[in-house]
Amino acid sequence: MSDTPSTVLDADSYHRLYYADTFRFGQGTEHILDLLTQIPPVATWTDLGAGSQSLLWACALTAGRLTAVDVDALRLAHLTTAARAGQPRGVHRVALALAGTNPTTQTFAARCRRLPTTLTADLLTPAPHPPPLRLALGADLITQFGLLGLTTTPPQFIDAFTRLHTHLPPGGWAAGANWVPATRDTRIHLTHALYRHTLHRAGLDLLHLAALPSTDPDFPLVWTYLARRHP
Ligand SMILES: C[S@@+](CC[C@H](N)C(=O)[O-])C[C@H]1O[C@@H](n2cnc3c(N)ncnc32)[C@H](O)[C@@H]1O
Repeated sequence: MSDTPSTVLDADSYHRLYYADTFRFGQGTEHILDLLTQIPPVATWTDLGAGSQSLLWACALTAGRLTAVDVDALRLAHLTTAARAGQPRGVHRVALALAGTNPTTQTFAARCRRLPTTLTADLLTPAPHPPPLRLALGADLITQFGLLGLTTTPPQFIDAFTRLHTHLPPGGWAAGANWVPATRDTRIHLTHALYRHTLHRAGLDLLHLAALPSTDPDFPLVWTYLARRHP
């Protein structure tokens, strides 16, 4: 496990707080969903540092096969259980509606069937990618929501971002968000300049970058980005 700040809450508490029945408007989630709707349909999608939340982001995406990767097998087990159940919670119904999709159980269940597999891996420690991860990193869309914001220094952020997008094919998409805590901890200090430099280093064209205010007292700012490998 890498020497980075860990997610504040355990899997259950995190899921209950942010992704249960009530959609929390004002915390940037609706903006992230809107950004994701701008991505055209893709055959393969890999969500890095997925936790148990990929199904929320899946509401705004038209993606074939999803691979969810996380260091925490318990979070991935929650995700698999939720995908098998195929029952939308309040947040999913609102997310589907915001994405312009009919918020029915059937629509959500169809999204859930796109998750055939999960992968447990430490994504922040520099190490050669095992074959299943190498394959997953060659997806048409790579997302990360809250993973790379756990890095602690600009070189670590740049290196991790670049490594995790090395296999993105020409025309492939990269999107994500990183939350900034109210109380400074050891997390990376994100800036426009750092994002621009990092995306350039990773060989991606930046299409959108924003730092949005959030009503979450613990995380009052969220960075969102959308980028693409030149086709
Ligand atoms: C802030 S949570 C975000 C979860 C989810 N992506 C979301 O949209 O809410 C960060 C996630 O990164 C995972 N994580 C932390 N360190 C990791 C590492 N070194 N390798 C892979 N995943 C990691 C955590 O287990 C957690 O699920």
